[in-house]
Amino acid sequence: MKKLLLLPFLAALLILAACKQEPEPEPEPKPEPQDERLYTPSATLKSKATFPVGVAIQSGRIALNAYDQVIRGEFSSLTAEYEMKQNIVHSSPNTYNWGPADAIVNYGLAQGMRVHGHALVWHNAIPNWLSSFSGTNAEFDSLMKYYIKDFVGRYKGKVASWDVVNEAFEDGSGAWRNTLFRQRMGADYVAKCFQWAHEADPDAKLFYNDYGAEYDAPKRAAIVAMIADLQARGVPIHGFGFQMHISYEGPSLNTLTQAVNALKATGLLIHFSELDIRANPDNDLADLSVARAQAQEAKYKEIAALHKSLPAAQQFGITLWGLKDDDSWLLNFWGNPEWALLFDRNFKHKIAHRGMMEGL
Ligand code: XIL
Repeated sequence: MKKLLLLPFLAALLILAACKQEPEPEPEPKPEPQDERLYTPSATLKSKATFPVGVAIQSGRIALNAYDQVIRGEFSSLTAEYEMKQNIVHSSPNTYNWGPADAIVNYGLAQGMRVHGHALVWHNAIPNWLSSFSGTNAEFDSLMKYYIKDFVGRYKGKVASWDVVNEAFEDGSGAWRNTLFRQRMGADYVAKCFQWAHEADPDAKLFYNDYGAEYDAPKRAAIVAMIADLQARGVPIHGFGFQMHISYEGPSLNTLTQAVNALKATGLLIHFSELDIRANPDNDLADLSVARAQAQEAKYKEIAALHKSLPAAQQFGITLWGLKDDDSWLLNFWGNPEWALLFDRNFKHKIAHRGMMEGL
């Protein structure tokens, strides 16, 4: 009798033991918290834009699959970030170093992209041997003439457009920058360079490129006056490049619109030639915050829409100055953490890309 009474008790114990052995159910894997600074696009820049969208690149990167995929997927125009500057190309008096330039031009053409040449004459890319050139002014002049003719001639029919002269004016005053070129070739050196480039490739679109016209009124006025003078004398100039190294803080849309209107009035092609938008100009961030990424997104949208608002015949396009945040020249230039471009270091689309898409 006693045994019988114990049975239910033993059964319960057994059940309990069995339950105990059952492994705890695995907790559901938590979904990765969504990074609000990134997004998944449903289209590409080049498919949305009605004008070319470009990127500045380095020859060593185009061979890397990850770069190649994004570049060919998103962009329709290409600029060499530094390998088509004089210090690289004209490496010694009697040598041209065409290797990296060839690689970039050939890559661009193979993808059916427009290739923009940057920059023939820039005071910040003078080869050492040229800085210390001891020949006469006439010899300097002739050296520049053959450099420009050889360079533009080599890529005739391949490079569609050139920044012939880059940054010829001082900040604030709009005075001529007293460059080696101006000292050696005279006050009319810009006209000469455009003329030589035109003779080497009459079909190439020739640009004057500068920073600061976006917000610096005296500099902008000097640029507009130079363009008017060149045009009045029949010098072949076809475009103006606003570099557009700006920040989420400014210049304001109002200021930018004024600037673009002033250059639009020249009738030239307008290129936003080196766009990047700093998210950390005051160095108050150690990592890109969501709020700052959103402010940057809004600015990218503004810039794309501003270009789009130009007459179609003057829209030369927008070129980003680098592909992904950690490649940007700004990191070295300012020495701050910075995330100025459309892709993060892992090639992921930032919401800045969404902003740009919305403005296009
Ligand atoms: C910068 C490049 O990004 C760097 O890699 C290079 O070392 C220096 O030049 N204005 C221009 C560009 O016209 O050529 C500059 O590019 C950025 C400022």
